[in-house]
Amino acid sequence: MTRKILVTSALPYANGSIHLGHLVEYIQTDIWVRFQKMRGHECWYVCADDTHGTPVMLRAESEGLTPEELIERVHAEHSRDFAGFHVGFDNFYTTHSLETRDCANEIYARLLASGLIEKRVIEQYYDPLKHMFLPDRFIKGECPKCGTADQYGDNCEKCGAAYTANEIRNPYSVISGAKPEIRQSEHHFFKLSDPRCQTFLRRWTQTEGRLQPEAANKLQEWLGEKDDNKLTDWDISRDAPYFGFEIPGAPGKYFYVWLDAPIGYMGSFSNLCARRGIDFDEFWRADSTTELYHFIGKDILYFHALFWPAELEHAGYRTPSKIFAHGFLTVDGAKMSKSRGTFITAESYLRQGLNPEWLRYYYAAKLSASMEDIDLNLDDFIARVNADLIGKFVNIASRSAGFISKRFAGRLAAGDETLPAVQAIRERRALIAEYYEAREFSKATREIMALTDLANQYVDSVKPWELARQPEQETALHQACSNALNLFRLLTILLKPVLPALASQTEAFFDVAPFTWDDGQQLLAAGHTLHPYQHLMARIDKNQVVALLAANRESMTATPEVTAPPPAPAKEPETPEASATPATPPVGIDEFMRIELRIARIREAGHVDGADKLVRLLLDLGPLGTRQVFAGIKSAYDPAKLVGRLTVMVANLAPRKMKFGVSQGMVLAAADVEGQIPGIFLLSPDDGAQPGMRVK
Ligand code: MSP
Ligand code: ZN
Repeated sequence: MTRKILVTSALPYANGSIHLGHLVEYIQTDIWVRFQKMRGHECWYVCADDTHGTPVMLRAESEGLTPEELIERVHAEHSRDFAGFHVGFDNFYTTHSLETRDCANEIYARLLASGLIEKRVIEQYYDPLKHMFLPDRFIKGECPKCGTADQYGDNCEKCGAAYTANEIRNPYSVISGAKPEIRQSEHHFFKLSDPRCQTFLRRWTQTEGRLQPEAANKLQEWLGEKDDNKLTDWDISRDAPYFGFEIPGAPGKYFYVWLDAPIGYMGSFSNLCARRGIDFDEFWRADSTTELYHFIGKDILYFHALFWPAELEHAGYRTPSKIFAHGFLTVDGAKMSKSRGTFITAESYLRQGLNPEWLRYYYAAKLSASMEDIDLNLDDFIARVNADLIGKFVNIASRSAGFISKRFAGRLAAGDETLPAVQAIRERRALIAEYYEAREFSKATREIMALTDLANQYVDSVKPWELARQPEQETALHQACSNALNLFRLLTILLKPVLPALASQTEAFFDVAPFTWDDGQQLLAAGHTLHPYQHLMARIDKNQVVALLAANRESMTATPEVTAPPPAPAKEPETPEASATPATPPVGIDEFMRIELRIARIREAGHVDGADKLVRLLLDLGPLGTRQVFAGIKSAYDPAKLVGRLTVMVANLAPRKMKFGVSQGMVLAAADVEGQIPGIFLLSPDDGAQPGMRVK
């Protein structure tokens, strides 16, 4: 029976590059989709860029682009990266589309009609300089628990405390540095607390097979016991300025990015339907008999297993058949890190000339149906790919193909159906198919490699290279190499979901139509003629991996500040971990020299009204004129005593607009970052230094 299946991967944010962590998901989904297509099912794989929200808006602004220009550029980059890793979307679209807007409006209207939308005035931080409400991730201040400075508005990196933005002390806007004000605004809420939602979600999430067991447990926790009513209403609107869709009938109010993001699955599919003549309603109407699967990371389970099905159900659409959540990628056992160079972008991997199918195979060898994290151990990556793919698999072809083309004009002899390796492949194909279907890719690859071992045992036993030296063994040589190539073909069919490019090169070599799963039932006919063999895959050289890390190693200080994704329950933003001592990775002299340090004489120093930590300094740089700088040194210095002394300043720091005026640089001071030794210690040059002199 032909199944009708719609598959999605989560929509990547349009304000960042695709990295190897993302690729766990897209490769996992792609393998599954390719398997379904090989089995002859009607399977559509759609995705899109997730384009809306504050981070995209601000990023575009900082790059001097409109949001539309930014998302268009990123869309091209993402498309290139996905194609480079052979992720075969049927449609890679954008949430900033008419289709997504129409679907969002429709869902909103239906929820409104069902009485599940409510308007309520809330209080929120507002940036008076930037004239916008601030998401929690754009507020920093002192941790209310431990007092550490410069912590985000939702949790403390030092002591791990979680809190809300209005608990934070001395808050400031990450965007402008201004002190935020509390302002009121009317927001639209999706009433998840409504008994209809609660009852529905209890039933839906605990339906057998809908969610992985770990996921179902998490949901149980979130939903609480019956009558607990743990779910609170979901704020789905944001105020202008915002990059997104304006809510119909609510000028200046926009759908929150997470409202239209999953609807982007529908938008992308709708766009595909129009181009390919597929019936959209057949896949989305409430009584649809088609299958719908969302592949996601465990961090966004909340959105996909609570908000999304509740929205769909109460707007009269079908709900997902299943949700497949995967774990997070670690590299060499740790979170990806920019300072170690393990925050590896898809682009850099390809640009350094590494083969994308090495990674696809390695991920397949590690992936299971569980939500456990998966580790990319770089030494194991090299060893595993070289041993399995080159040493075992490709080796079968490279040890036999040359003889067929040179000695037998490319013509195959009849393959031997009774070989133990052929028998074993036939027997285990069904099991391997079950593993693919169940997303147990590591089990599938392990089985396939066991079969590959059997094929190699055969080649080792007949030794084509020895037969080739004995003229009277011509027939035996023909037989041996034909069998080996038939085995290679059967194994390639089994690996095709994982290695689509290698499979397509192999199809070309065998001069056959694209392999389907059922092609693995038969051997090739005697007399079938092959094209000349071209080497299929190279070994990984350790130096390539070393170069890849070097290409991704980055000074943490070069990371722009405002790249945090929008706030989201249970979704950690992807910021690199704080680095261990030494605090910052090495920089080259060129990089250091871009920082212009100069001697400055403090000409004026004064208090700043409304800022109990800051001192306003007027710095004299001699021939370079004067600069105003706000310095956080008031706890250690009496402004009056500073006037006249020399110090060192960063003269080319980008000016920063603050509530009290523009700060045009910074003065250098020492402090114990561990907080053990109190105090702030301003630097002073030796006698003879003059204002304006360069420090290097
Ligand atoms: N835009 C949202 C998803 C909206 S779906 C309607 C988002 N974007 S994301 O770019 O942050 O992540 C896209 C997908 O990649 C998510 O499923 C996320 O879990 C996954 N991954 C991002 N980093 C990852 C790792 N380090 N490891 C594994 N998967 C990771 O979330
Ligand atoms: Zn703290």
